[in-house]
This record gives sequence, C-alpha cells and structure tokens, in this order.
Amino acid sequence: MRLGVKHLSAFASVALSLNGASAANSFAGSNLYYAAGLYPDARATLLDGLQSAGLKVLRVWLDGQSETQKGTPINPFPDLEPVTIGTYNDTVLDRLDDFMLDAHSHGIKLLISMHSFNALQAGDVYGQLYGTGYFYQNATPQAQFDARLEHVLNHVHTTLGKPWKELSDYIFAFEAENEAMIGKGQTYIQDNQAWQCDRANTIKSVLGDNSGILVVTGGESWMSESVQPDWLNCTSLDVISIHSYGTGDFVTSSIQAYVQQAQQAGKKLLYEEWGACYFDTENNDCPSGTALDTTTRNSNIQTWAAQITAAGVPWFYWQVIPSADPHDGEDYEIGIGDASWSTLQAASAAALQAPAAFDFSGYLL
Ligand SMILES: *[C@@H]1O[C@H](CO)[C@@H](O)[C@H](O)[C@H]1NC(C)=O
Ligand SMILES: *[C@@H]1O[C@H](CO)[C@@H](O)[C@H](O)[C@H]1NC(C)=O
Repeated sequence: MRLGVKHLSAFASVALSLNGASAANSFAGSNLYYAAGLYPDARATLLDGLQSAGLKVLRVWLDGQSETQKGTPINPFPDLEPVTIGTYNDTVLDRLDDFMLDAHSHGIKLLISMHSFNALQAGDVYGQLYGTGYFYQNATPQAQFDARLEHVLNHVHTTLGKPWKELSDYIFAFEAENEAMIGKGQTYIQDNQAWQCDRANTIKSVLGDNSGILVVTGGESWMSESVQPDWLNCTSLDVISIHSYGTGDFVTSSIQAYVQQAQQAGKKLLYEEWGACYFDTENNDCPSGTALDTTTRNSNIQTWAAQITAAGVPWFYWQVIPSADPHDGEDYEIGIGDASWSTLQAASAAALQAPAAFDFSGYLL
C-alpha cells in the first residue's frame, strides 16, 4: 500500500478457464504494517480474530512506527537501520521473534517484508543518501541493501536460538521490499526489473533451495504492473505478489489470464494486497469521502473476495485491524468485530474450501 491513487488496470479481460488447478485448496491472509508495535492486548485481539477467520498468514513490515496507527496505540520501535546504513537496531526483529511464537500458536505464519518504498520515499537512511532513483540503479546501495536482507535472514531468534532463514515453521515468505519502485511509474519498473531478481538471488542464496520459505516480490500498483515478465522467469522468485485496488483487476477472467502465465512459468501468484474502500469513492482512490452503506460495502467485500478465490489465487486483505476503525487516512481496513468483520470471516472460510491454481499447502500451518 502506498498513499495516493491506485490506478485501474487497463487490461482487457479475456475469458480463460482455470486450467491446471492443483488438488490444493486456497487460503486467505492479512496485512498489518505495524504488527511489531502492538501491545499485548491488541496482539491478542488480532491473533484471536485472524484465527477465528481462518486467516493463515500475516504480512508484516520492519519500518519503525510510533504514536497511534489506525486507532491502535503503538509501542514505538525504530527503523532497523535508524541512523546509519549497516548499523542495525534489532528491536523490530526481537519484537517479531515474540510475535511469531504467538502467531504460530494461533496457526498463523508471517510473511516478512524487509523494507518498504514508503520508508525510502519518506527519507529513511537509504532515501536520504540515494533518493528513490540511485537506490535502485547504483551498485553501492544495492550491495548495502543486500547486506540488510542478509542481516534479517540471519537474525538469530531470541528464544529459539535459530536464524530466521531456518524458521519455516513460523515464516511463510520473505520479500525484499513492499512495492519496490512504485512511485517511479510503470515504465521505470519495467526498465528496472532486474533489481527485483537480483534481490531475490541474494535472499535465495542465504535461504538455500530447500528452506521451506518462499521468496516473493512485494507487489506494485495494479495487476499488470505487479506481474513483470522478467520476474516470471527469475529462478530465485517463487511467488509474484499482486497488489491492486482497481475493481477491474478483481474480475475472475482477468486474473485467470495471469494465472495461466504464472503456471506456464512455474511460478505461484499471491493476491498480496487488495481491499474494499470504506468510502463511496472509486475503490482505488480512497482517502476520504462519504461512507458507503454497510450492505453495499459488505457486498463489495464478499463479491471481490469470491472473484479472486474463483480464479484460484490466495489473497491477503489490506488490513484487518485490532481496534475499531477510526476511518482516517486511506481506509480499506476492517476492524475485528466491526460491521464488515463477519463478511470477511465468511470470505476467508470460502477460500479455504475452494480449489487453488497453486499449491501452497506445504507452506501453511
Ligand atoms: C535500539 O532502539 C531502542 C528503542 O529506541 C533503544 O532503546 C536502544 O537503545 C537502541 N539500541 C541500540 C543498540 O542503539
Ligand atoms: C528473462 O527474460 C528476459 C527477456 O524477457 C531476459 O532478458 C532475461 O535474461 C531472462 N531471465 C532469465 C533468468 O532467464
């Protein structure tokens, strides 16, 4: 997720059947970029809620957070590299050590996003030095960023005593960065596809080939931007992440065209970010507005989740939150217990009963 407009995909839908579906069923998960900042009561609410919905994976971020996020008070923590590139403050990793044990006891694994374009653009240590262009194009920041990825993968769990790269019972997947290059535009992303595969090569070289942990891309603005040809043929990438908030990209036949491409390339697809806007604006442009009536929003959630599930692609909602939704900022969130929560629970349960185009069963609890 980034701030600003999520564009509609221009992709014309083509009717294609779901071929090659494996015997495995689908599943659903959720996102929470400030998971490492939850106090115990909020963490319990979140994990109990995700478990009650059968949501199997939670995607978490490493960027520092503070104050209150989406109505939830945050136990503050700094960026992994708060002051200087290469000088790590492991607070966020230590917090997630504890979090992943609790998640595991709820039948939930973590997808760990190791940096975000959001932090880069907001001027973290990389952003200050390199901006959003040199960061992706120059050899020095690439090597420095690879060292960060290696640091995370080799982080020794505080109580389990093993590095994260060996914790396939707790960790579903790693990705280098949320929405790499997203603010640079589609052409820039197309021109710099190698950055993603180079980072995946780094991650895979640390994980090894039989880690039981997936390497995923981290998504872009919409479907066609998220699925780039050189990622489909990048050996080190296991999964291509789709992020989209445009309703055209929720159409089953449109998704199936990408499913076929991925299957032919031997890759998996994951609809890693989507959501239903709380307001009556275009779904991909949701900063504020008039609230939709509850029936309409719930119908949107139910319909779009069902369409993605029907294409055989697992999905993660942006976001399930542990507090009542204050409806500030871009608002796709669903608070546990609020008026749309039972709709999302039902959508998740339906995913678990539906056939998937990709077999993720070996990676789930
Ligand atoms: C890491 O950050 C925490 C929280 O801000 C702080 O208390 C601690 O001193 C920092 N550790 C190092 C090694 O800088
Ligand atoms: C993937 O395909 C592109 C051309 O589309 C090519 O330049 C690149 O080398 C290929 N990568 C691999 C890993 O095969």
